[in-house]
Amino acid sequence: METRNCDIKIVKGEEIVPFIPALAQLRMAVFRDYPYLYEGSKEYEENYLKVYLKSKDTIIVLVRDGEKVVGASSGMPLNLEDNAVKKPFIGADINLADVFYFGESVLLKEYRGYGFGKRFFFEREKHAKSMNYKIAAFCGVVRPENHPQKPKDYHPLDRFWQKQGYKKMEGMQTHFSWQDIVDDTETLKMMQFWMKHL
Ligand SMILES: CC(C)(COP(=O)(O)OP(=O)(O)OC[C@H]1O[C@@H](n2cnc3c(N)ncnc32)[C@H](O)[C@@H]1OP(=O)(O)O)[C@@H](O)C(=O)NCCC(=O)NCCS
Repeated sequence: METRNCDIKIVKGEEIVPFIPALAQLRMAVFRDYPYLYEGSKEYEENYLKVYLKSKDTIIVLVRDGEKVVGASSGMPLNLEDNAVKKPFIGADINLADVFYFGESVLLKEYRGYGFGKRFFFEREKHAKSMNYKIAAFCGVVRPENHPQKPKDYHPLDRFWQKQGYKKMEGMQTHFSWQDIVDDTETLKMMQFWMKHL
């Protein structure tokens, strides 16, 4: 079920270039909310997103309402990622070249619940399988149960991820650092990995 007259556009490798500013803006808007609480900057975002231009295997699935990009989801070979991301896989004796790593899935609030989230997984997995990757993986931030910024109606995405066939990988965690919107400096966040054999 996908409605709201949106179209899905898939871009790979160099085709991603024109969409970097829109993706940066979307990440900053969506990741301000709990559990990310991310205080980003456009300069940092646009620079960070250039990693997607390093390989022809990278993919971004875009949701567009007319000309406006309202959702996006990304994926890349794990080998392109930082050591902080690769380390837990090395520790678990997983061949890095077998893993396709999913970056963010971000959708503006008013477009949620229409099935785009499932489509994000479907399209990225299809792409990864077509290039013979054996494993899809991603990570999500772990916040304490009693976090002061947690909204009363917040539901974790764990069930959604499990329904897409992903397993929480006990012992596979790493730390990312960013500045929360309520803080003045960056702090470390624990990131939990999820994985699926394709
Ligand atoms: C993750 C996200 C892209 C999912 O998009 P979506 O289009 O709403 O997802 P779908 O419509 O495909 O819904 C998939 C299922 O998950 C459920 N679901 C979606 N968002 C949920 C949420 N926040 N909490 C609990 N369940 C949720 C839906 O009810 C649906 O369940 P069903 O299969 O039983 O029908 C969207 O919620 C989002 O942008 N969230 C904020 C950013 C984020 O946390 N991203 C993930 C980490 S990068």
